[in-house]
Amino acid sequence: MFDQKRIVLGVTGGIAAYKAVALTSKLTQAGATVKVIMTNGAQQFVTPLSFQAVSKQPVYLDTFKEVSASHIQHIELADWADAFVVAPATANIIGKYANGIADDMLSTTLLATEAPIYIAPAMNVHMYQHQAVQANLKTLSERGCQIIEPDVGYLAEGYVGKGRLAEPEAIFNYLADAFKRRSLLQGKKVLISAGPTKEKIDPVRFFTNHSSGKMGYALAEAAAKLGAMVTLISGPVQLDTPKDVKRIDVTSAEEMYQAMLAHYHDQDIVIKSAAVADYRPVKTYDQKLKKQPGMLQIELERTRDILKELGKQKEQQYLVGFAAETDQIKEYGKAKLIEKNLDAIVINDISLPGAGFGTDTNEVHLITKTGMEEKIALTSKQAIAEQLLHFIIKEIGVD
Ligand code: PMT
Repeated sequence: MFDQKRIVLGVTGGIAAYKAVALTSKLTQAGATVKVIMTNGAQQFVTPLSFQAVSKQPVYLDTFKEVSASHIQHIELADWADAFVVAPATANIIGKYANGIADDMLSTTLLATEAPIYIAPAMNVHMYQHQAVQANLKTLSERGCQIIEPDVGYLAEGYVGKGRLAEPEAIFNYLADAFKRRSLLQGKKVLISAGPTKEKIDPVRFFTNHSSGKMGYALAEAAAKLGAMVTLISGPVQLDTPKDVKRIDVTSAEEMYQAMLAHYHDQDIVIKSAAVADYRPVKTYDQKLKKQPGMLQIELERTRDILKELGKQKEQQYLVGFAAETDQIKEYGKAKLIEKNLDAIVINDISLPGAGFGTDTNEVHLITKTGMEEKIALTSKQAIAEQLLHFIIKEIGVD
């Protein structure tokens, strides 16, 4: 699990700092490269030399001590990390990070990284239970940090309570599990469509829909985080491309058809979350249509059903469609599952508040060809994406 993994370990000022030396040693022996950042507090308990000796890497102490004029160390470290662990994490670093304070090497690097973050708190039981610390931990957890719970045990203060840093072995196992989960789609190719399509009428007008692309982009990001090679075919949206995702922009349903088919043959998982126009104008105009008295009639023709075509050409791909429904959602969803030869369909009831188009949240029903039915209650599109991918992973048997 740790072979060639790049781990930044932040060590803060607590009596448990000595355990971080053992953790560094275990991770290094398992094949990881560990770069340690120590706060001033940590240096009161353990010397940088201890970490340098076990990690065989330089230890970072000061944001402003740049060794090379062409490198900014805290940004380089932040970008370099596959995982960022803070162990032990004092109430101080937890509070600083939760509130976006960056006033030393560790806190600046933490704010700059996009790597997954693991926080292992260690402090007195009363400090740990304090509302401020609990609120900060909740904030960090909601932002996606993983909290490695402290143990209940004999504290340095001479009494028993919850606050003792988890043992190096337990932190090591936690990280090993996390790396395993993050590589579940390693080597797999995933093709996702997202966003709306725009069907041109003239140089200034078009038909489109309310899709923001958030659901599809969340899926692409989650798949990339699981190690997949992700290609995202995107309609016109105002979203940044997720990290490690290859994005191909299209505008019309026909362009999306061409792009999906061109990338389809060697994919392992294909998810069609785009809201594709069912109709487009029969005639488009190169000049702006001038206002005329009376009615304007625009004749529409059917676009090609991309998903149905993918279903026809399906070989090894696990093919997932989305359905936006307002009533009899399961019946209509199941009909699409069969009609388009899908392996699974994700149905969103777009009549529910907080679900469907444009929202940051969604609520969906997943129905598979094998008969599995699962409801994912209202939650963020990121959480929906992660859960959907884990269902798919179970279905294709790489769990
Ligand atoms: O983008 P967001 O704002 O986050 O919103 C997310 C979403 C509501 C758009 C998404 O969750 C969703 O439901 N996408 C599918 C919407 C839709 O077009 O549903 P449908 O029932 O009309 O189509 C069923 C399936 O056929 C879809 O997978 C669609 O991509 C596909 N289709 C439809 C028409 C067509 N010409 N070609 C297709 O491939």
